[in-house]
Order: sequence, then C-alpha cells, then structure tokens
Amino acid sequence: MELKQLVQSIEKEVIAIRRHLHQYPEVSGEEFETSKMIQGKLSEAGIQYKTGYAGTGILGVIKGEKPGGTVALRADIDALPIQEENELPYKSIQPNKMHACGHDAHTSMLIGTGKVLNQLKSEIAGTVLLVFQPAEENAPIGGSRRMMDDGVFDEYTPDVIFGQHVWPDLPVGEVGVVHNEIMGASDRFKITVKGSGGHASMPHQSNDAIIIANNLITQLQTIVSRNTDPVDSAVLTIGKIEGGYRYNVIADEVTMEGTIRTFKPEVKEMVKGRFYSIVEGVGKSFNASMGIDYFDGYPATVNSPEWADEVRNAAQKVLGEGATPVVSPSLGGEDFSRFLHKYPGAFYWLGTSVKDTEPQYPLHDPRFKLNELALGKGVEVMVQLALNALSKLKKEESAL
Ligand code: NI
Repeated sequence: MELKQLVQSIEKEVIAIRRHLHQYPEVSGEEFETSKMIQGKLSEAGIQYKTGYAGTGILGVIKGEKPGGTVALRADIDALPIQEENELPYKSIQPNKMHACGHDAHTSMLIGTGKVLNQLKSEIAGTVLLVFQPAEENAPIGGSRRMMDDGVFDEYTPDVIFGQHVWPDLPVGEVGVVHNEIMGASDRFKITVKGSGGHASMPHQSNDAIIIANNLITQLQTIVSRNTDPVDSAVLTIGKIEGGYRYNVIADEVTMEGTIRTFKPEVKEMVKGRFYSIVEGVGKSFNASMGIDYFDGYPATVNSPEWADEVRNAAQKVLGEGATPVVSPSLGGEDFSRFLHKYPGAFYWLGTSVKDTEPQYPLHDPRFKLNELALGKGVEVMVQLALNALSKLKKEESAL
C-alpha cells in the first residue's frame, strides 16, 4: 500500500483518539489514564514499549527488519489547568483542565505515525523510537530531562530526534521550520529589595526601598538597550512590583518579579550575568541588601540546520512545494529544547488554523481550537520524515 493510503486508513482513528484525549485531559504529572490509553493503542498495534519514564512517560520501539540508525519522534501528552470555553461534542469534561496547547493532537498523531511505520517494518532500515513525554507544561522542571535521567535512551540512543507542534498561525497543509533557534529560552526571577523604613518626613533616618527599586528598574532596562547586540533578541520584563504601606511611611521592602526571554545561549548568559551584577551593584550603591531568586527555565529550542532541511524536504514531498513558508521564531518556551541539547534534530510547527469563517484563538487560550483536517497530514509528514531520516543516516553510514 502507498504511504498516503496507509495514512488514510488510520486518519479517522487518529481523530477519534484526539477527541477522547481532549474530553479527558490530564495535567502535568497526572497523565495516568492518558498513559494507559497510549499503552493500549501500542499493544493493539503490536508495537513494543516500555514505561516508567518521568512517571507516566512511554517509549515505543519499532525495529525495522534491516539494520540502520535510530530516529526518535516525540509527542508531549499533558494538558493545562484551564477551563475550556468551547462548545464541542468532545469538550473537556474535567473542570479547569483543557488540552489548550494541542498535546492531545500530538499524542494521537504519534500513535498514528507508529501504526503506519509498524506496517512498513519490513522495509525499514533501522529503529524508530516513539517518545511520549509527560509534564511539558511544568516549566522549569519539565518531563524531558526526567525521561532522560530515567534512562529512556539508555538502550537505544537516537541519532536524531524530531518534535511536532500544532501551530494556529499557519494554515492546514503548511509546516513551519527554521534553522537554529525556533523557540526561546524563558527564565523567571524575583528580586527582594531590603532597605529600612521610617517617617516620610525624615528620609535621612531610613533607606527607602522604593527609591532603590526605581533605580534598579531603570538600570535593568539598559541590559537590552545597551548590552545586547541589536541584531539579537532579548526581553527583560518586570511584570509585578509590590512594596510600601501608606503615603507617609517610607517603605522598607519592595519585591519585583519578572521574566527574561532570549534565543542564543550566549545572549542568555550575558543577560543573566548583567542582571546579577546590576542588582548586586545597585544594592551596594544604596547600602541595601538584595535577595535574588533566579529560575532557569527551558533553554532555547535550537534546530540542527541539516535536520531542519530534512523536515522541509519531507513536508514538501507530502504537502507540495509551497508547503514550507518562511516563518519567524517564537519566544515561547518548549521542553523539547532539552532533547535537542543532547541530540541533533529539529522541532517544527504543523499548520492547524481553523476555517477563515471562525475566529482563531492562540495556544493556551480557553477558546483555542485546532483544525482536525491537519492530523492526517501531520501523521504523513512525520512518517515521511522518519523514513527520510533513516535513509539519510544509512547514506552517512555507508560513506564512512
Ligand atoms: Ni505545547
């Protein structure tokens, strides 16, 4: 059977699995029923698997009948603590839980991809790993590092790994991919400025935490405007500030919370380094003590250019020449980044925008919807990509 026909034969089931997961979403670390369902589907298809990675994570293994390299395909399986506002026959029945980032579709497409590849086993040269990852939304901890710590790749080490994400900004039939950074690094901080309080009329007897905070905010903004190369990207936002008691009392303490977003690791390290020196330096200059809580979030998701090209080739083969428009990276965070830190590969976006007559809401919105016409295409692209990657690995091996 041709690849297209194989995909068509399972398309309805992929949609049905997605709807079931959508109706019964489970948040990070609690993907118990989701995990059981995936295991059931893998068993049904005769695909071997192992469990116990990051709690509910699963590794499916498809061994081709010929020797070759190892290609890993990853789907995240968790939902978000959001109350769904859509009216759908398969609307979430769990209060305050919703698949608002499309991980239901990622999971069902990876099951479908596995089913198709398993039927092609006799032609496959090498091994395909199906990585079902929990807790993607649980930044900065995440599930990917835990899966690797739990030995998910101890027996089979990927030569390359791919991740696919639904993308409401792209129409169905298109795929977005870029060389190098595709998603941003996302860090979080809290600063506590400790001065000393007093009467508003006697500033010389106190150390005004509001004045210190004011200077600190101004200086922190110079990291992006004066220390960052203008052609690189960085954001430093202070989103919350609290301090003070009353109009005639000098504040003894101010707390500030914010986020730092970057693409390049060297830019992130520079911004983080300047952040510490400025906070500590401002504290010293005002004789105040400064508390810093800094949380390193997911690193930037950085694609290997040669594998990003392979994504483009596979997408064009399946969806046509014009299927891979030029896209700009996003500063959203993504746990797949940690897999790409250890293994070459690429993360790409699958166009899932709804019909033009309907409003499109972004990922993580309680009204987020995706177009199910994209699911079959997502499966076909992933299957094609896995096959292309295996033959590329084969060629590289024989060239050695
Ligand atoms: Ni997501």
